[in-house]
Amino acid sequence: MKLLVIGSGGREHALAWKLAQSNKVEIVYVAPGNAGTASEKKICNITLSDHQHLIQFCIEQEIDFTLIGPEAPLAAGIVDDFISAGLAVFGPSQYCAQLESSKDFAKAFMRQHGIPTAAYATFTDAEAAHRYIDEKGAPIVIKADGLAAGKGVVVAMTEEDAHNAIDSMLLDNSLGSAGARVVIEDYLQGEEASFIVMVDGEHVIPMASSQDHKRLLDDDAGPNTGGMGAYSPAPIVTPEVHQRVMDEIILPAVKGMQEAGHPYRGFLYAGLMIDESGAPYTIEFNCRFGDPETQPIMCRLQTDLVDLLLAALEGKLDKISVNWSDQTAVGVVLAAAGYPQTPKRGDFIEGIEAANQIGKVFHAGTTFNLDKKLIVSGGRVLCVVGMGNNVAEAQKQAYAAITPIQFRGMHYRKDIAAKALK
Ligand code: AMP
Ligand code: GLY
Repeated sequence: MKLLVIGSGGREHALAWKLAQSNKVEIVYVAPGNAGTASEKKICNITLSDHQHLIQFCIEQEIDFTLIGPEAPLAAGIVDDFISAGLAVFGPSQYCAQLESSKDFAKAFMRQHGIPTAAYATFTDAEAAHRYIDEKGAPIVIKADGLAAGKGVVVAMTEEDAHNAIDSMLLDNSLGSAGARVVIEDYLQGEEASFIVMVDGEHVIPMASSQDHKRLLDDDAGPNTGGMGAYSPAPIVTPEVHQRVMDEIILPAVKGMQEAGHPYRGFLYAGLMIDESGAPYTIEFNCRFGDPETQPIMCRLQTDLVDLLLAALEGKLDKISVNWSDQTAVGVVLAAAGYPQTPKRGDFIEGIEAANQIGKVFHAGTTFNLDKKLIVSGGRVLCVVGMGNNVAEAQKQAYAAITPIQFRGMHYRKDIAAKALK
């Protein structure tokens, strides 16, 4: 089979790497991919991005199916375009992708279907937003309605911070049209987890549980990022919590989309806050696999990912089961100097081969320069995964694999998965 993966991050490297392991697969194209996907056996980068050019490519190359990694093309309707062209594609339609591309859509959907989430109100008028904050007090959370690449959420611990966030988004247009409408929601307390499932429109297969580390610095300090590391499984997702998430969040969401006449097909990611009593609340929905959660999760997947995707495309996820390694996987993100604000690009990266002798290195912001030297090209540069029979072993392997890697300004968290050791 010939497959296509859309995207260029660590998530897409891990998905393409897993697909390429299938003996059904002849080649996996990645558009546009990164230096990591360029270096793998049976994987080939292509530089197309425009939907019509990608469709043309799939028709000419007789691609069996396409898997969409990131949210931006999904929100732009790539799946609708592929389906109109008669191509097999795994990912949600533009309508369903609103669960991620509009916080207001997602909150209204959750309210309509009784899915547990923080109480909220939506505003376009700054005066009204300020009055709501005065009434509610702090801590309180301000969210840009649209896609803002991880920069759209302000968890305001003081009323002053909340008012400033409103002025920045609604008056100064700091996030452009993404922030022209804001959702203000109650502050939730508890522990976060990522709950990712595969949906074929009707049936659901949960992926292994995982936990991301969103803040830049150790002990969850510093600004929010796209994710600085993740591990799987996440002990906070006990069998009881798992059941509640399925019953109270995932299945109502899938049913709600079916009832709306827009069956959800694709990966669905619920970002959870689990309170002390074990009750799960939905912080957000993403309409795709998580990054960096994909990297450790794919390292634990034992079932052929091609079989899972084929079953999903045929609406037969109820007919297939999925096996996970009993091992723990820990992925640590190595970031560029200046990430997340202004990542510095162009520095040489060394030591990948040695690192791959110990763990598995997934690339994200990497490319080859004209001299074919590996250089930094984005904020999150690499994600290094270690495996082990328990959290401590997996963590040890991940950090051991990082030791040989060097680039100027490289920084990473030293406490990935530490919570799971407690
Ligand atoms: P989001 O992009 O919606 O996932 O938000 C980014 C991060 O902000 C989350 O991972 C949480 O750490 C935090 N956050 C978002 N919403 C809330 C909330 N209602 N209460 C507390 N923390 C939140
Ligand atoms: N790791 C969080 C995300 O993919 O949005």
